[in-house]
Amino acid sequence: MKIRIIALAALAAVLVSCGGRKDPTAAAHFDASAKAEPVTVVPYPNDITVGTGAYDLAGTAVSIGKAIDEASAKVIRDFVARLETVTGEKTVETEGGLAFIVNENMAPEEYALIVDSTGVKVEAAALGGFLYATETMKQLLPPEIYGNAKTDVKMLLPAVKIFDAPRFAYRGMHLDTCRHFWSVAEVKKYLDVMAMFKINRFHFHLTEDQGWRMEIKRYPRLTEVGGWRNGTMIGKDWGSNDGIRYGGFYTQDELRDIVAYAAALNITVIPEIDLPGHMLAALTAYPELGCTGGPYEVWTRWGVSNEILCAGNDAVFDFLEGVLTEVMDVFPSEYIHIGGDECFIGDSDPWNSCPKCLAREDELGIPHGPMAKHYLQNYVTERVQTFLGEHGRKIIGWDEILQGELAPGATVMSWRGVEGGIEAAEKGFDAIMTPSSFLYFDYYQSRERDKEPICIGGNLPIENVYAYEPFDGLKPGTEDHILGVQANLWTEYIATPEHLEYMLLPRMCALSEIQWCEADRKDYDRFNGSLDRIFRALDILGYTSCRNVRGEIGLDRVPARSEEELQEYLNNNPIGW
Ligand code: ACM
Ligand code: ZN
Repeated sequence: MKIRIIALAALAAVLVSCGGRKDPTAAAHFDASAKAEPVTVVPYPNDITVGTGAYDLAGTAVSIGKAIDEASAKVIRDFVARLETVTGEKTVETEGGLAFIVNENMAPEEYALIVDSTGVKVEAAALGGFLYATETMKQLLPPEIYGNAKTDVKMLLPAVKIFDAPRFAYRGMHLDTCRHFWSVAEVKKYLDVMAMFKINRFHFHLTEDQGWRMEIKRYPRLTEVGGWRNGTMIGKDWGSNDGIRYGGFYTQDELRDIVAYAAALNITVIPEIDLPGHMLAALTAYPELGCTGGPYEVWTRWGVSNEILCAGNDAVFDFLEGVLTEVMDVFPSEYIHIGGDECFIGDSDPWNSCPKCLAREDELGIPHGPMAKHYLQNYVTERVQTFLGEHGRKIIGWDEILQGELAPGATVMSWRGVEGGIEAAEKGFDAIMTPSSFLYFDYYQSRERDKEPICIGGNLPIENVYAYEPFDGLKPGTEDHILGVQANLWTEYIATPEHLEYMLLPRMCALSEIQWCEADRKDYDRFNGSLDRIFRALDILGYTSCRNVRGEIGLDRVPARSEEELQEYLNNNPIGW
């Protein structure tokens, strides 16, 4: 027996010296004396206990349960590959170290992460859970985990027990691609950072008065004509025009690529075709769809045109059905956003002077008068809702769709405050809360406006974002109608990726805690204390972020990036998928 033990020890010594491999088992990797760092995970886990000691992930054993689906296995393998890159050590596929296990009793986005002297155990049921467990692990590790090169910093995972699941199912972030257009590479980078903070819905704003951004094969002029504007106003000078033709659009292949990329990050893409207002680009392409027949011109200035689709013309509904058929073909999401906001700017009522619209009101028995436009908008909304419903889809609309009489089954996106969401929930509609006073990321981030890049206005420092509580003001018993929370990023005054990211980050991190954390888990001081580590991670990943919370105001310190640098970011795939 003794001889056998000596022989095994000798063999182990030979293996270590030949392969340079460490013993992959848990016992060899757990350091009971490692000092615990404060947990800086954002969004903060809903159930976490911090123990003592830490697990060194370099060269560990890794086991990926056989029942794990392909998409989750890819996320796990990418995480392991990242570990190998930054540690310079190969992991070993065997039991006894870092284990990923399917637990079918868990909800799809739930996960457990247990790190102790017996190893690291991750349990989840599906992609969301496994992805979020790896995101949490990356946030528990030193930020060098996000790099693309070997580092001497040890990848020590602190001893923790985390049982985590989101407060809200709908955790959205919006992007306006119309006022300014964002390349596929930038959109993917935006999705990456959303996933890092466990955000799972991408509201893709694709149509506007200032540009139409989705290729529609039945209506090629939408992008040939509607995708371009003859210049853009300069700063806040409403009478100006820089004279530079501006535009762009996504082909359907590109959009499918974005949808697939997002799906791998547990993100559903919800496209928005804003109707019947915000349609000037489409009207420029197809003037016969408007009440007056035009001519129209894709807007070169901000604001909202009061030229809208004609509600009295059946050809408009043929057009919308044709567009939405292609939208459904590209975007598999259950929800399609149909806009519905700001059709009537001020007291405007373009339908009231259109014989076709007035005839439609008569046909529907809508009495003429100040309320008629709302009921006529209800008619448009319901026709579109019925068409989408026949194809198994549901609508989301901005809170204006509640005016008049909204048909059952619509979901209301409350943006002009919280009142729309509260009213919707009381009336039995589902709602998504995105009140501008808390969640419009195009607003200024500090009162020192002279140091900030130009903005649309407002004042939304990160602590105000963080303070938002989605159930405030709700009638008790209606909470279940609140599907979740979203922030919006309109891009009138945002023309570069650096500026876009500056407006997004770190306010989106605050958003993620509203969406993920139970109300009593939120703590602004703890969150703020986490931001130093997050800033380091974002720096390593190549994101621009606003440092107002650290007294550094403004975008001037950030060098501009080229599209090639962005592409290189994606080629390096630094987040790890
Ligand atoms: C909006 O901000 N017009 C929805
Ligand atoms: Zn009309």
